[in-house]
Amino acid sequence: MLFGAPGSGKGTTGKMLTKLTGWPHLATGDLLREQIARKTPLGLEMQSILASGQLAPDDLVSRMVWDRLGWPDCENGFLLDGFPRTIPQAEGLAEWFGGRQFRPVLIHLWVEYNEILRRLTGRRTCPVCGAIYHVESNPSKVPGVCENDGAELTVRADDREEVVMQRLQTYQRQTWPVAETLRKHGILVEAIDCGEMDPESVADRIVWRLDRISGSIAKKTKN
Ligand code: AP5
Ligand code: MG
Repeated sequence: MLFGAPGSGKGTTGKMLTKLTGWPHLATGDLLREQIARKTPLGLEMQSILASGQLAPDDLVSRMVWDRLGWPDCENGFLLDGFPRTIPQAEGLAEWFGGRQFRPVLIHLWVEYNEILRRLTGRRTCPVCGAIYHVESNPSKVPGVCENDGAELTVRADDREEVVMQRLQTYQRQTWPVAETLRKHGILVEAIDCGEMDPESVADRIVWRLDRISGSIAKKTKN
């Protein structure tokens, strides 16, 4: 589970970890934005919630996750990004893990406030492939254009300053206590102070920590 404030690097790190481990990267924010982009009934309902920086209803997000975790590609491991994010979601996930052969670890990506603001205000994303850029620290080769598919890069609807403030408050109030809830369920919590680390180093550090916990994860996914 990749855990941390908006802009802490969950998406960026998750994409790199997928390449390193072979585990699918399941980001609830991406799943919800996909529904919005496809203008499904669920997407239309979720659009204003995401744009305001509030959280989607627990039942709905949890059902989406339980469904996705049942796919065969999750059998050997998976990366959750942005879930769980409330205490009811955390309780539900702890129950889901109970009796299953997984060794869950919550990785808390810790980044200080000013760096969070710098990252979110400079973020650009590709609406087609979901690639994540930053205008200063990770610019695309041609400004404003995705390197993978040539699509025009966009600013996420919830990266406007007033919405960012709301998301940070939501994080403090509803998401921060999740780590403690999972710890009480015996789930390992590992914090990484990564405000000054480049994305590759963050991903390498996570793999190193997971290797120490359960042996070579890269090797395990190949077997
Ligand atoms: P979600 O999409 O999960 O947004 P978030 O948690 O606010 O996190 P972000 O995606 O903004 O940041 P990130 O940590 O992924 O950072 P990134 O890698 O992009 O959720 C959106 C919304 O969906 C929520 O507000 C809610 O409404 C709803 N939702 C989602 N999950 C839900 C749930 N479980 N329950 C209810 N509602 C839910 O990086 C940010 C920037 O920093 C980029 O520009 C990147 O290039 C740069 N960067 C990344 N790492 C580094 C680094 N190491 N050094 C320098 N720059 C870096
Ligand atoms: Mg993200």
